[in-house]
Amino acid sequence: MTSLESIKKFYKNQSVSYEDKVKRYWNFDRTQITDLLKDSKNIVEFGVGTGLNIPFYPSSAHVTAIDLSEEMVVKARLKAGVAQPVRFLVGDVSDQNISVDTFDGALATYYFSVTSNPNKDLETLKEILQNGSTAIIVDHAQHSPNFSQWLIGSLLYRIFYFNPYRDLERMFLYHGFRINKKVYLGRLGRKLQHDTYLFVLENQKI
Ligand SMILES: C[S@@+](CC[C@H](N)C(=O)[O-])C[C@H]1O[C@@H](n2cnc3c(N)ncnc32)[C@H](O)[C@@H]1O
Repeated sequence: MTSLESIKKFYKNQSVSYEDKVKRYWNFDRTQITDLLKDSKNIVEFGVGTGLNIPFYPSSAHVTAIDLSEEMVVKARLKAGVAQPVRFLVGDVSDQNISVDTFDGALATYYFSVTSNPNKDLETLKEILQNGSTAIIVDHAQHSPNFSQWLIGSLLYRIFYFNPYRDLERMFLYHGFRINKKVYLGRLGRKLQHDTYLFVLENQKI
């Protein structure tokens, strides 16, 4: 089974209990998303999951929300209802044939610690997001992980498809995003807690 198929299966099984767990152990103030993306009219969300961010999309924006798991998306669709114009795409974010410069805002919460290929997805994000646009990323991250963090992260990924020790900051910079703001949200998690941040990135194509 490829890792995409394994992640899909994992979230198919998680779809029933996911929301309760996130609200309890990985909660953060999602209301700030509205203000941070207020100037964006055409937003993409990577890994929409059950749609916990949907109530906080700026009301005038058109949103394209992508997720691998049909079961998670079913729940997200219910949240969107008819009030918010959300286009849902089911599949790998980097396999959607979206045109270059389509979006002027992006959102990914607890996505980059989960995807099997964060570098490929950041390349995709860079392409489909217009120059100067904002991307809001919330996730666990570890700047310059040491060897034991690297090892534990790899093991956690094999079992739970989640690695809280990825050096996301370095990846953002490598792919040419500017980090305009980095907010520490605390150590979040269930039995194991991990440093969690909100990053406000600016896409710099030139
Ligand atoms: C931890 S959940 C986060 C859900 C939501 N953003 C939140 O904040 O609660 C990660 C989501 O990313 C999706 N996912 C993982 N890899 C993906 C990929 N390559 N393409 C699209 N979705 C993916 C999973 O199916 C899952 O729904």
